[in-house]
Amino acid sequence: MPDAEEILVLGHRGLLGQALVAACGGRCQIIEGGREVFDLARQPLASAPAGGLAVGQAQAQASLGCLRARLPVMGQEASQAHSRLDVLRLALKQGRPRLVFNCLGYTDVDRAEREPQVAEAVNGRGAQAVARACAEAGAHLVHLSTDFVFDGQEKRPYREDDPPAPLSAYGHGKLLGERLVAAELPGALIARSAWLFGPGRASFVDKVIAQGRTGRPFPVVSDQVGSPTYTADLARALLDLGGRWVGGVLHVVNQGQASRHELAQKALELAGLDPGLARPAHTDLAGGGARRPAYSVLDAGRAARVLGAPLPEWPEALARYIAGRQEEGA
Ligand SMILES: NC(=O)c1ccc[n+]([C@@H]2O[C@H](COP(=O)([O-])OP(=O)(O)OC[C@H]3O[C@@H](n4cnc5c(N)ncnc54)[C@H](OP(=O)(O)O)[C@@H]3O)[C@@H](O)[C@H]2O)c1
Repeated sequence: MPDAEEILVLGHRGLLGQALVAACGGRCQIIEGGREVFDLARQPLASAPAGGLAVGQAQAQASLGCLRARLPVMGQEASQAHSRLDVLRLALKQGRPRLVFNCLGYTDVDRAEREPQVAEAVNGRGAQAVARACAEAGAHLVHLSTDFVFDGQEKRPYREDDPPAPLSAYGHGKLLGERLVAAELPGALIARSAWLFGPGRASFVDKVIAQGRTGRPFPVVSDQVGSPTYTADLARALLDLGGRWVGGVLHVVNQGQASRHELAQKALELAGLDPGLARPAHTDLAGGGARRPAYSVLDAGRAARVLGAPLPEWPEALARYIAGRQEEGA
């Protein structure tokens, strides 16, 4: 298992990235800033970033999962970086991480339908750039992917070797990323997860609780079933898997399954609100949103065998998350 200082978390400001930084006790490496210094949407393998970058040590409070301070260690050399791939190369050269988590991603599933080329650049070629830089530097890569690579026609939890057939531009971009990463760095771990909730960025669960607080009923789809997953549990599992240098594709999710409606009702109940406010509804694509799989539960049996135990059941994980939220007064 590498020390936290030997780990680079890409996408440290995102929902999962924040959980990984917290799981590292805030001592992992990050590339300072976000897409303003490192925008993968435009020619990730070729064009120039504006300005430089700084590789810093994340000083996070594990309990809050937020970055408190950074110690830039790069100067002139950074401003000479001339492509996004070079930015990554430089980060790996400076920080010499042994383990890299790629939590960068274009994650707005509906918006991806309107700008599929941007989603593909970030989730496809962007992922390829990360994998190439890791391959050159000899760093192990854990790359994040999604249940949305499946079409949802299956009647049992999806296994790693089930054929992917994405329904959305987001899913297509993520599948392209999986394939490009595997081609660049065959030893990389491609960890598919799903339906994330956790502190730091508003997810479905937080939006449901906010809606519930209005006291007015609201519709939630009951015809999409998946694997709700707590970022804190996922981050711990990913660190463990990364430290074992596991490669290939693995499904990493909390145990159990739920429809969006069941998840919403449980979240409301745990937040002390009326679960009946969430009214079951059918998926409606009239507004031009992305198609989502009706059933995308992931079978995480293989990860459980590697880890020695499955991740906790999602309702228990959700209870921990909501209790933590309430302690912080959210
Ligand atoms: N959320 C889910 O339910 C879910 C489910 C399954 C799989 N996943 C996968 O898990 C990973 C992490 O997801 P997440 O929910 O933590 O994502 P998130 O909260 O949306 O964070 C995404 C990160 O990617 C960065 N990013 C976005 N566009 C970028 C661009 N053009 N150039 C450079 N950086 C860019 C963001 O930077 P900024 O800080 O600048 O915003 C942020 O740090 C992704 O690969 C996602 O596909 C997520």
